[in-house]
Amino acid sequence: MRVLGIAVISVDGCLTRHAESDVSFASAEDQREFRRAVRECRATVMGRRTFDLVRERILGSTDRSLLRTILTREPSRYVDLAQPGRVEFSDADPREILRSLSDRGYQSVAVLGGAEIYDLFTAEGLITEWQITVEPRLFGTGTRILTRAADPALTLVEHRLLNASTLLLRYRVG
Ligand SMILES: NC(=O)c1ccc[n+]([C@@H]2O[C@H](COP(=O)([O-])OP(=O)(O)OC[C@H]3O[C@@H](n4cnc5c(N)ncnc54)[C@H](OP(=O)(O)O)[C@@H]3O)[C@@H](O)[C@H]2O)c1
Repeated sequence: MRVLGIAVISVDGCLTRHAESDVSFASAEDQREFRRAVRECRATVMGRRTFDLVRERILGSTDRSLLRTILTREPSRYVDLAQPGRVEFSDADPREILRSLSDRGYQSVAVLGGAEIYDLFTAEGLITEWQITVEPRLFGTGTRILTRAADPALTLVEHRLLNASTLLLRYRVG
């Protein structure tokens, strides 16, 4: 199964600017690439804290063909928000989630973060590709893309300027 990690970061590897929770530093060009990559996958996985930031958009979305799996250790808290096949909450381990998606016919999954979820999937060696946008920012502090020790082998397969200073990098893992 193709498992694509997607992130936008500062040059110094931050997913967020300082203690800010949103990703308003992402350029419009990055957001366009993000949407394109997600559309290609049809299934996404994200952490509950990332979900909280975009929950209105997700719950209000009319796109019935995209399945979002939200990882939480307390899925019972979200039964009222669940929409089977569209928005699902799970405490299954990452391998089990991918197996279940594969059994349901999904061939590509986008892993959308945040850091805890990138850590989790990276520790299990499950991410097969990364799409990382590097914005021309240096934050010094913020949530890092990975917070646990890791060192997956990455092979660069694409690099492209999205505007004068924003760089899109695509890597194959391994
Ligand atoms: N720049 C980017 O591309 C990008 C992308 C995504 C997110 N972000 C940013 O990253 C921040 C959020 O990242 P984060 O690391 O704090 O949180 P997160 O990864 O979005 O979510 C963490 C939550 O996921 C659930 N979780 C974690 N491990 C789990 C496991 N093994 N099983 C079941 N559930 C599990 C827990 O939910 P419960 O607490 O409900 O149990 C945990 O609190 C936000 O500021 C967001 O804006 C940036």
